[in-house]
Amino acid sequence: MQNSELFRNPFAWYAEMRRNRPVFYDPKHQSWMVFRYNDVKQVFSDWQTFSSKVPLPPEQTDFTESLNFTDPPKHRTLRSLVGQVFTARRVEALAPRIAQITHELIDTVQHQGEMDFMHHLAIPLPVIVIAEILGVPVGDRSDFKHWSDGIVVNDGEAITAMADYFRHLLVERRKNPSQDLISDLIAAHEAGETLSAQELVDFCIVLLVAGNETTTNLLGNAVLCFNDYPEAFAQLKQDPQLLPLAIEEVLRYRSPVQAMARFTQVETQLSEQTIPAGQMVTVWMGAANRDEAQFDHADAFVINRDPNPHLAFGNGIHFCLGAPLARLEAKIVLSIVLERLPNLCIVTNRELEFVHSVEVHGVKSLPVLF
Ligand code: HEM
Repeated sequence: MQNSELFRNPFAWYAEMRRNRPVFYDPKHQSWMVFRYNDVKQVFSDWQTFSSKVPLPPEQTDFTESLNFTDPPKHRTLRSLVGQVFTARRVEALAPRIAQITHELIDTVQHQGEMDFMHHLAIPLPVIVIAEILGVPVGDRSDFKHWSDGIVVNDGEAITAMADYFRHLLVERRKNPSQDLISDLIAAHEAGETLSAQELVDFCIVLLVAGNETTTNLLGNAVLCFNDYPEAFAQLKQDPQLLPLAIEEVLRYRSPVQAMARFTQVETQLSEQTIPAGQMVTVWMGAANRDEAQFDHADAFVINRDPNPHLAFGNGIHFCLGAPLARLEAKIVLSIVLERLPNLCIVTNRELEFVHSVEVHGVKSLPVLF
């Protein structure tokens, strides 16, 4: 199969793998591939066997100690410190600002009757929101946006520039604390807890890496689902209360993150395969979320599916820290879209280009009419 076809539609391949090769070793990627719901969940829940620590050569040390790449006890300490400041209350307090930013972004295109949904709305919104949460001064926003864009394409220079920027901002906030996340993270540190300067910088970068492109693709993928299932979209317009369930179904049906990696600490068994110690394991949440053994009509977009125990945010101790923020952003943006652009539809005469990655699922650009 052509790679571009796989980026667009990996689901037929997943179905075949769930059926015939649910766990196998892929020599090309030097990783064990895991596709079934129960196996993927098992890997997420057993961190003692399936470690998040990347085994790297000793000279490569940057950002490998951050939250998502650690195991307990280090992970427990970091997660509890950042969890104290990245709270549901802080996220909920942002709702009016997220709505305002969404309205402003739509204002700039409404009169045109068309836009690129990714470029005009889904890409800028999460970056602006995270800049506000962190407390990036307004005058630094364009640099910040530039580096964030670089981070998405894994540009090493952008990551270094962003890390330098955060180092300076941290020094500044240590001198003059403000009411932002960075100041609170420092305070947690200075109250006798253990966030080092490097851990603070790492966490800020992780928020950008983990939060921006994922939320962008959740928004774009929602439009793809609504476009493919016009009856569901009509139902949603009739009953906007369905939106939270609809968002969960988008997360299941077109998961923004399709796969994650782990590393075996000991020999183990999954779906009757023996995986030796010291091996990389790739869990395919995109495949688990379409597993018929777990979800009725798994290949259909069922807008009011409930319950919906998808694994799009992971599971267990590394469960996405930003899930409440991603859900809130999606709810606000999509409800404003339903209200202001109820006739939104994708321009049909252009082929959509999907992000060139098997781990990330979403489109690069999404021309829509409204
Ligand atoms: C739809 C949007 C999002 C999706 C699909 C998503 C997905 C995920 C997944 C699958 C994990 C688990 C990683 C693992 O098990 O190794 C994760 C962890 C994480 N996410 Fe998200 N994420 C989203 C949005 C966000 C946002 C908005 C933020 C913050 C601004 C964020 C911050 C994090 C962090 C810090 C972790 C690491 C947690 C830990 O290791 O304890 N994510 N995310």
